[in-house]
Amino acid sequence: MKFDVEGFTKTFDAFPFYIILVDSRHNIVYANKHVYNMLQISLDDIIGKYCPKTVHNINEPFAGCPLEEAVNTGKPVEKELYDEANDRWVLSSVYPVGMKTQAGTEIYLHIIQDITLKKNAEISNQRAYDLQKTVNLVISLVLKNLTIEQILSESLRMVLMIPWFSLESRGAIFLVDKKKNVLKMAVENGLSPFIKESCSEVEFGRCICGRAALSGLIQYKDCMDEEHETRYNGIYDHGHYCLPILSSSNKVMGVLNLYLKKGHKKNDMEIEFLRAVCNTIASALEYKLIEHELKDKEEALYSLQKIELIGQSTGNIAHDFNNILACIKGYAELLFKELEKETGYKMFIDEINGAIIRAITLNRQLLAFSRKQELNIKENDINLIIENTTRMLKVILGSNIKLEISPASDLFKIYADTGQIEQVVSNLVINAKQAMPNGGEIIIKTENVLKNDTYSDDCLETKPGEYACLTVTDTGCGMTEEVKRRIFEPFFTTKPKGEGTGLGMSVVYGIVKQHRGWIEVESEVGRGTRFKIYLPKSSNNDK
Ligand SMILES: Nc1ncnc2c1ncn2[C@@H]1O[C@H](COP(=O)(O)OP(=O)(O)OP(=O)(O)O)[C@@H](O)[C@H]1O
Ligand SMILES: [Mg+2]
Repeated sequence: MKFDVEGFTKTFDAFPFYIILVDSRHNIVYANKHVYNMLQISLDDIIGKYCPKTVHNINEPFAGCPLEEAVNTGKPVEKELYDEANDRWVLSSVYPVGMKTQAGTEIYLHIIQDITLKKNAEISNQRAYDLQKTVNLVISLVLKNLTIEQILSESLRMVLMIPWFSLESRGAIFLVDKKKNVLKMAVENGLSPFIKESCSEVEFGRCICGRAALSGLIQYKDCMDEEHETRYNGIYDHGHYCLPILSSSNKVMGVLNLYLKKGHKKNDMEIEFLRAVCNTIASALEYKLIEHELKDKEEALYSLQKIELIGQSTGNIAHDFNNILACIKGYAELLFKELEKETGYKMFIDEINGAIIRAITLNRQLLAFSRKQELNIKENDINLIIENTTRMLKVILGSNIKLEISPASDLFKIYADTGQIEQVVSNLVINAKQAMPNGGEIIIKTENVLKNDTYSDDCLETKPGEYACLTVTDTGCGMTEEVKRRIFEPFFTTKPKGEGTGLGMSVVYGIVKQHRGWIEVESEVGRGTRFKIYLPKSSNNDK
């Protein structure tokens, strides 16, 4: 085949690219069919035309035009350009061909290849890499010794650092407040003062975050529709990703909220990424919760061991002291008999007698706490004991305290020392009264309880079996965690010096232990306190 103009044209047309020969003044010398077909004109009509006007519909070469650069440098230029009007990427190359037009201007070969597919694959790869890197960074936070708040704020920061993702680095992480069924904003970035204020607490179901919390499902919006309930004057339209942070048992622990540019299209890769971030945050939260629980249990166990230890040593001392007191009491009685014959000693004798009685009472409490006293055990009905004790206690309760008693009709009998259980009830009721200086309510309840589990979250001493359970609830001042932890320690009191011995609850503890039971305490400052006392059912119930 002879290589003529026709051959040349056919060759250029065979390339799947846009090919233009253009001179240094941007006038088109030649174009292959892909160019003039795209512009919907003929070859004759395109030749000699000014390229910026004919191809780009502008009066001058656009900024960054590769021909301009090639003309200026005299070197080949290759550039990847984004064609916004057609949403595509092109590789635009310009090479000097070493020929001139008849007018003497240099000719350049300009090739434009559509590289959208390749470019999109590259962008997705880069994005996948950005996302994976962020997930890895978030995972690494869990291994560091950080607080929950630090983990959340770092995780949010890392997600927001991905430049192509969120809108103006704005977002927040909420945590569920179980008591109130609301989301509480834990950390945020870039939110307006209005949003910070009005979204500091979000009820389940309200706005997009509340919907994510209520449904446990991801919420996506590409603009502010009617479900975007929180608004203020001047808010500009935007979208959202709101993802629930789910525990390993699928419970909603919080919500991750990101702001998106209006019109941002959701895609699977982003959702998968955000899910991975949320799962990592959830693992961190669960890990921290377990850590706290273990620490609390350790402290509770330590307090229990401490009480046992104090109990043992107190018991030994109290036991010896009991013998000494018995001896003092005996000889004092003999001495007083002699002295009574003389006048003038009565005042001293009364003082000594009073001191001996106080010492014996105190020592009895110490013996009760350390479980060293002798019990007079018989089969007993706690309901009857409560009835007798409260009859006496009503006098001291006063009119501003309401006492409600709700006994179980078929309550299990227990083996118990009546006097000791009376002491338990009266100590609890007196403490409850003292916790309510401005009045309130005391509820005493009994019920049968079957414990199957050998392990309880609330108490380390739980044992499986059948129990008569006595509950004393008050609406008083409640206790701090510190007071709650120390409540059974002998001589621990929050009362002013001289007003309380701090032995009341230690005695309750000792008695309940000696009856092979245990005590559970629930208390919240300002809300009140509940003591639950479990005493094993007597075997006679089975007959
Ligand atoms: N129902 C209650 N509500 C709030 N705090 C309580 C309650 N019961 C006990 N406490 C707290 O536990 C502490 C110890 O109680 P405990 O009965 O052992 O001693 P006390 O009451 O201080 O002294 P005493 O019993 O000799 O009057 C109290 O000082 C109080 O702080
Ligand atoms: Mg007390």
